[in-house]
Amino acid sequence: MHRVAFFDEMAPRWDEISRLGEGRMLEVLGRVPLAPESRVLDLGCGTGRTVRHFLGRLGPAGRVTAVDFSPRMLEILEQSIRDPRLVCLRADVGALPESLKGFDLVVLFDLLPHLERPPEVLCDLSRRLIAGGQLVVAHDVGREELNRVHHEKGGAVRTDRLPGDDLLKAWFREAGLEVEELESTPHTFLLRGRKAQRAAP
Ligand SMILES: C[S@@+](CC[C@H](N)C(=O)[O-])C[C@H]1O[C@@H](n2cnc3c(N)ncnc32)[C@H](O)[C@@H]1O
Repeated sequence: MHRVAFFDEMAPRWDEISRLGEGRMLEVLGRVPLAPESRVLDLGCGTGRTVRHFLGRLGPAGRVTAVDFSPRMLEILEQSIRDPRLVCLRADVGALPESLKGFDLVVLFDLLPHLERPPEVLCDLSRRLIAGGQLVVAHDVGREELNRVHHEKGGAVRTDRLPGDDLLKAWFREAGLEVEELESTPHTFLLRGRKAQRAAP
């Protein structure tokens, strides 16, 4: 099954499925530093649980751009969250419009294993961060369970895997991101990197 069709089909059940990981999602994302005026790019946003989290932490000047390639996921998000600080966009993370740039924080929550060329995508996303901005790859399940669930689920996600820590760290470095935090537990995963501040003139 084509990937978009796979996630479209899952969309009506995603809130119920993902509710099981709600506490772990809040625990992981709650550790990511965020200023009230931050501009956040939430990729593979699904039905919006992480969008809700960020909007709750941002002040009136903060902004969230939520991106997903599944029309049905976005439809559910747009029906349940109305907020002037939110912009939703239907797009493939591997082919984002050039206009998406200048973010303080780019987040891939429960997304990276589904990407076709993660190292290239990470390089592209790093360009879209401001100097000193952060990129976060996170999950509300541990690596082993995540990889097993994808295999058992089958279909479009059967071979989707979260790579090992060393490979992920190498991809971050190649993308110009300094790893500030990497925590892989049996129940959660958080990798947070920061783009270098511009060198002083
Ligand atoms: C496992 S769900 C996670 C949704 C959300 N981040 C959450 O944690 O609730 C993965 C989401 O990523 C989206 N997705 C997968 N690959 C994508 C891609 N290449 N471009 C855009 N969205 C993608 C799917 O449509 C789906 O909504």
